[in-house]
Amino acid sequence: MNFQWYPGHMTKARRMMQENIKLIDIMVELVDARIPLSSKNPDIDDLARNKYRLIILNKVDMADPSVTAAWEKYYQSKGFYVAKVNSRSGSGIKEVKNLIELACKEKKERDRKRGILNRPIRAMIAGIPNVGKSTFINSFAGKACAKTGNKPGVTKGKQWIKINKNVELLDTPGILWPKFEDQLVGLRLALIGSIKEEILNTTEMAMELLGYLKDRYPQLLADRYQMEDPDMDSVKLLEQIGEKRGCLMKGSQVDVNKAALLVLEDFRSVKLGRISLEMPPAVEEVE
Ligand code: G4P
Repeated sequence: MNFQWYPGHMTKARRMMQENIKLIDIMVELVDARIPLSSKNPDIDDLARNKYRLIILNKVDMADPSVTAAWEKYYQSKGFYVAKVNSRSGSGIKEVKNLIELACKEKKERDRKRGILNRPIRAMIAGIPNVGKSTFINSFAGKACAKTGNKPGVTKGKQWIKINKNVELLDTPGILWPKFEDQLVGLRLALIGSIKEEILNTTEMAMELLGYLKDRYPQLLADRYQMEDPDMDSVKLLEQIGEKRGCLMKGSQVDVNKAALLVLEDFRSVKLGRISLEMPPAVEEVE
């Protein structure tokens, strides 16, 4: 695989995160609900040791709701607080506040026993690029609040956004890089458009996607492309889709590359429907 992450940039971001983590009580980690494992960098478990942990399954509007519910249970069983959020619409944001309050309660109680009163709980948002961190912060904190640090003349340094009387949020999110030692992880990240680098060419990616969809979501394929039964070889499937959707070259031959782009676009824009690309380990085991 030929991914180009810039090591200097990565090291700097990681160092910044390490420094900021010392200042917070709760780590709010965003993952993409369509790939809640592949979009999670496992290093964060080590970095955020001893902190309260909240996982935001973001972009739930794009994922399969029943699979998202299974992921919620899975992460809860691992000891995380979990919220399902659509940062674009703001749905689920209230629950995030409630969960932080819940963690807050425990901490407040601990503080109170030590004689510390009125110390706000401090939170940090982290996640891989494109997972929706900025959108989430805007939704969570309100646009006006999130922008205060960007005004010219505002002193550079740590900016805390006051969410309510108990909670403050660090205005700059921590950036983690996805780990894709596993080919499938890279493929999934590329499919959702989270990494710009091409892991495979467009046609191969579309065929991988179709191979998965015809197993897991045959009805969605059948509906979108008006097919009776999409259960066929992926090459043939792609060709049929191209034919049906008028992706043709001169001489009426199917333009496979154009058809592949169409399929990827239909998936990414949710025109194919709400689709999850990975299942929690426990769910896979019972199948
Ligand atoms: P980042 O800071 O983690 O890098 O991510 P960012 O907020 O920039 O979000 C990346 C893209 O994901 C944006 O779309 C954003 O609108 C979209 N997004 C974030 N959260 C959600 C969500 O819960 N649901 C959906 N459907 N989309 C979400 P974009 O097309 O890159 O930008 P824009 O067209 O919104 O400006």
